[in-house]
Amino acid sequence: MTGTRALVTGASSGIGRAVALALAGRGARVWAVGRKLETLGELERDARDVPGSVESLVCDLTDDDQVRGLATSAGSQLAGLDVLVHAAGVHSMGAIESASVDELDWQYRSNVRAVYLLTQALLPLLRASRADVVFVNSSAGLRSRAVVGQYSATKHALKAIADTLRQEVNASGIRVLSVYPGRTASPLQESVHRHEGLAYRPELLLQPEDVASVVLAALDLSRTAEVTDVSVRPFVGGQR
Ligand SMILES: NC(=O)c1ccc[n+]([C@@H]2O[C@H](COP(=O)([O-])OP(=O)(O)OC[C@H]3O[C@@H](n4cnc5c(N)ncnc54)[C@H](OP(=O)(O)O)[C@@H]3O)[C@@H](O)[C@H]2O)c1
Repeated sequence: MTGTRALVTGASSGIGRAVALALAGRGARVWAVGRKLETLGELERDARDVPGSVESLVCDLTDDDQVRGLATSAGSQLAGLDVLVHAAGVHSMGAIESASVDELDWQYRSNVRAVYLLTQALLPLLRASRADVVFVNSSAGLRSRAVVGQYSATKHALKAIADTLRQEVNASGIRVLSVYPGRTASPLQESVHRHEGLAYRPELLLQPEDVASVVLAALDLSRTAEVTDVSVRPFVGGQR
């Protein structure tokens, strides 16, 4: 992956951070997108000694102007983009009877609209580089259950966008991967546990690095093949 140009959203935390580090660890030049300069700075420090590089980009993905600005900067500074990883996302819980429409709008804006707009704005670059586009979806994007209806609806929508995009851009040499992780140790999952009143035991969950390994394995595959959908979940069997 030496020299691979990658843009990773959600890179300041959890899964996106692990993917950004894994890519940079393999020599990629990573643009790491998040809202908090401080946490992105920590990522840059953690990536100091890896073969690739990490450059922070502050962007609120729910702000259309900022998203378009991000795409323009990528165009002028990277002159191409080989890997785009959509890992940014938000999550809230509540029964349909009580969860507010504002909560739904917030999750839609973050998990669907932002991803759609960023993909659309970057498509010329992605086409030029015959890129890989990775959507970090969720097991909730395949099956819904009580109190996650809003989040699950956004992730089902994300699946639809990924599936449609794949059909539209495969012929241009772009591969599209959706990854559907189960519960993964991260601040997002810690807040889910809090909401559910469960003790948070991150060691029993998928690790962000596990998800990153799945993504890199798919990217590594020869370009005669495309991994379209991967489900990955915590392994209840634990350590060998
Ligand atoms: N953890 C799980 O159990 C799990 C399971 C399945 C799928 N997922 C999915 O995996 C992805 C990553 O989740 P995670 O668990 O790693 O969560 P996390 O640790 O809470 O990280 C979420 C990331 O999204 C970024 N983000 C959120 N809203 C943003 C916005 N408006 N603009 C820019 N960045 C924004 C955050 O950036 P800042 O902090 O800088 O704002 C942060 O880097 C999400 O799409 C989530 O739905 C998670």
